[in-house]
Amino acid sequence: MKQITIAIDGFSSTGKSTIAKLIAKSLGYIYVDSGAMYRAITFFAMKNGLISTEHFNRETLISELPNAKVSFTFNDALGFAEVYLNNENIEKDIRTLEVSNLVSIVAAVPEVRAQLVKIQKAIGKHKAVVMDGRDIGTVVFPDAELKIFMTASAETRALRRYNELKNNGENITFEAVFENVQKRDHLDSTREDSPLIQAEDAIAIDNSNATIEEQYQNILKLANTII
Ligand code: C5P
Repeated sequence: MKQITIAIDGFSSTGKSTIAKLIAKSLGYIYVDSGAMYRAITFFAMKNGLISTEHFNRETLISELPNAKVSFTFNDALGFAEVYLNNENIEKDIRTLEVSNLVSIVAAVPEVRAQLVKIQKAIGKHKAVVMDGRDIGTVVFPDAELKIFMTASAETRALRRYNELKNNGENITFEAVFENVQKRDHLDSTREDSPLIQAEDAIAIDNSNATIEEQYQNILKLANTII
């Protein structure tokens, strides 16, 4: 059986990671949440007082990047890898709306991207990987055998993220999440370095009206035609 690379890109909260995890499990591949890595650097910047809604000390973040070691460790109980910053598990800290509101600013910094893309390429060196993000099919793995570009209406995506954050105990409004989703999409799509765009050879999937099971089966079928 051939081992391939599967790149899943798309807008915020399209359910990319849910589907990517299922596909990876089914094929026995590694799953990598590249967004978690950008969130980890954002969390690092917040913790060190380098970014807030009022300011961004971009140059200091760039010079401090060697001190922000982002890694993954597989959690057997959960069945997927969790993200670590300097050997500390920060999986819970990075999923807040506060991080979501700042991450696209940090992700637009080319030095941040260069550091993380290097790690992503190294993880995927031997293929058998499913990675989700914004630039996986265009920049990280332009030769990926299967590229998916996921979309859904902004309302659908904001509602999914709102329910997720509520379940995590965050005290937020739907409007705040809706605004974040739209703002992030805009920043991610219009930045200069590695903007969110559909790769020419990616298959676009609008999942506004599809169940997780339907999407999972659909993508798995596509993967199996290549493997
Ligand atoms: O996937 P997730 O929503 O957790 O990603 C958080 C943010 O990280 C995105 O809005 C984007 O700014 C950034 N990101 C990126 N490139 C990737 C993955 C995520 O710029 N490959």
